Amino acid sequence: MARCALFNSHAQNIEVTSPNGLVSVAFTLTGNGVPTYAMSFNSKEVVAPSKLGLELAEEHSLLDGFTLAATERSTFDETWQPVWGETKNIRNHYNELLVRLQQDETGRLMNIRFRVYNDGVGFRYEFPQQEKLVYFVVKDERTQFAMTGDHTAWWIPGDYDTQEYDYTESKLSEIRGLMKSAICDNASQTLFSPTGVQTALQLKTADGIYLNIHEAALIDYSCMHLDLDDNRFIFNTQLTPDAQGNMAHMQSPCHTPWRTVMVADNACGILSSNLILNLNEPCKITDTSWIKPVKYVGVWWEMIGGGKQWSYTFDLPSVKLGETDYSLVKPHGQHPANNENVRRYIDFAAQHGFDQVLVEGWNTGWEDWFGHSKDYVFDFQTPYPDFDIRALNDYAHSKGVRLMMHHETSSSVRNYERHLEAAYNLMNQYGYNAVKSGYVGNIIPRGEHHYGQWMVNHYLYCVTEAAKHHIMVNAHEAVRPTGLCRTWPNLIGNESARGTEYESFGGNKPSHTTVLPFTRLQGGPMDYTPGIFEMDMSKVDPKSHSHVNSTLARQLALYVTMYSPLQMAADVPEQYERFMDAFQFIKDVAVDWDDSRYLEAEPGQYITVARKAKGTNDWFVGCTSGEQGYQSVLPLSFLDSGKKYDCTIYADAPNAHYLTNPQAYTIKKKVVTDKTVLRLKAAPGGGYAISIKERK
Ligand code: NOJ
Ligand code: CA
Repeated sequence: MARCALFNSHAQNIEVTSPNGLVSVAFTLTGNGVPTYAMSFNSKEVVAPSKLGLELAEEHSLLDGFTLAATERSTFDETWQPVWGETKNIRNHYNELLVRLQQDETGRLMNIRFRVYNDGVGFRYEFPQQEKLVYFVVKDERTQFAMTGDHTAWWIPGDYDTQEYDYTESKLSEIRGLMKSAICDNASQTLFSPTGVQTALQLKTADGIYLNIHEAALIDYSCMHLDLDDNRFIFNTQLTPDAQGNMAHMQSPCHTPWRTVMVADNACGILSSNLILNLNEPCKITDTSWIKPVKYVGVWWEMIGGGKQWSYTFDLPSVKLGETDYSLVKPHGQHPANNENVRRYIDFAAQHGFDQVLVEGWNTGWEDWFGHSKDYVFDFQTPYPDFDIRALNDYAHSKGVRLMMHHETSSSVRNYERHLEAAYNLMNQYGYNAVKSGYVGNIIPRGEHHYGQWMVNHYLYCVTEAAKHHIMVNAHEAVRPTGLCRTWPNLIGNESARGTEYESFGGNKPSHTTVLPFTRLQGGPMDYTPGIFEMDMSKVDPKSHSHVNSTLARQLALYVTMYSPLQMAADVPEQYERFMDAFQFIKDVAVDWDDSRYLEAEPGQYITVARKAKGTNDWFVGCTSGEQGYQSVLPLSFLDSGKKYDCTIYADAPNAHYLTNPQAYTIKKKVVTDKTVLRLKAAPGGGYAISIKERK
């Protein structure tokens, strides 16, 4: 057996266990000095002996020939308060083992640091300052995660440039056979293997243990994917290469990101884990008073779903950035980012209590971008002639609303960096404090990937520069989050997954939002852009054949189940005006929380969560269900005993169905206490949303 070969009788296990003793890691150097680890939960092996190490571009990789120089142990226990979050307090409690290794032949030093929590394990490679290892190039990281069986997995294809996939649920042994259909509509340019998948990867063992593999604090390194050896069920690390095929350029002292394995015996345990945040550094921003959760509407769905344009003119050949005289070009008249329409959104936002209005298509360059992959497209400063940046901002501010900036970089990254300071200054000048940025298309410089080290550094550069300007960042198509929002809480959101926009590009699987909180949301909040009320997209754009695979009640629930301090009401005002009674929930729901309780969950099937709004005694509950629907039995025991609450339940009507009857909902009001048990049914692709306000 492979296991015996790795852990031969001479090998000595060095163990470290979690504070409650249930999770443990055993580190071993095998006969020829190969570092390995294994992990167990509740005395059951959950990661079989797995190799550790790095292949370097130069001679003498860091794979074997190691001897143990020393070990150090410590315990850490603190409770910290996030600037915004799912809970007011987060406990960071772990036992740590630092293994100091020396490669005898080269004299090189490599340390491996393990942190063992009650909800999982994080470990990373560290390279102290040393003469024998100064600059080095990682050719391949060889960290393994050896699974103990043919687990069920919720996965998306490994890809260096996009995560905008639906999830596939399958056994590990089925991944190879299903890969082709998993790639579906938005075919990848950079699929690296027929068994390659992305993290955070959610897994479930045959005996009901939930595992989740991801990474934390991805800084100055490339993003990790997993390549499955499906004969042995071993996941091998697959980093994202740079244009020359290398994975990372390092200079000691330095370390890799944390590799993480979460573990729980129930699905809610995975959802409530703070492992990823805890493995990140504390907040580096001293004054965080300018960082505020945001609820917003936007000039957006009109283009994404409604067939209108970001550009001002169709007169493509005559448009050249910086040289085009827009008074000479003919507007096509389908440009929603115009003064009159933006005022309409500002009025709507002010009337219904939204903080901000996103306006996409406000700036020149869009004509030049579509169909071209040019280095220099946008300058992020020049408004189209029908967007009066000063007047619109003044108008918004006079109504207590802000505009939200939009920077589509077109993935021309050097161009963006060239203009970044001026673009942020412009935002400061007009009073914008949040930017939605985006990275559509192949990265320029060509050959770089969205998830490579160079881009990882770029995304963080934008966030840290933004902090100097008191600007919050919500980056779309950026690398998947790994908890960096703890350190830089002005990283208020990311997309980095298949969002609601795909409901108008063919639709998302009804189960999609029952998986995302297990996977994509582990690393940080998602700008999922929920709140679509018209599901038949042909009614919005006669050319469209798409259908939003959700009931209306579930669209409300997503504000609670898809945790984010940045939430959009993504549909157009006209749709909300049709269903004002349901829209009330979106107006009321909080975006920042003192407490969160995951009540019921199973990936792919349902998630129900209750959250307590920041600084209040009010609760909001959301349930999202997959294709089968779900019957909840919900004790409200999280409420204070002895108090009465006014409860409003926005639920699927009995005949609701995401495909055939998505807009059928009921709104019921009742008085509840901590003794109340609600029985609520979520339709197929449905859900429910509840607001519970303390009776004063
Ligand atoms: C893709 C983003 O996800 C979407 O929200 C945005 O509207 C377009 N890019 C254009 O920037
Ligand atoms: Ca996107």
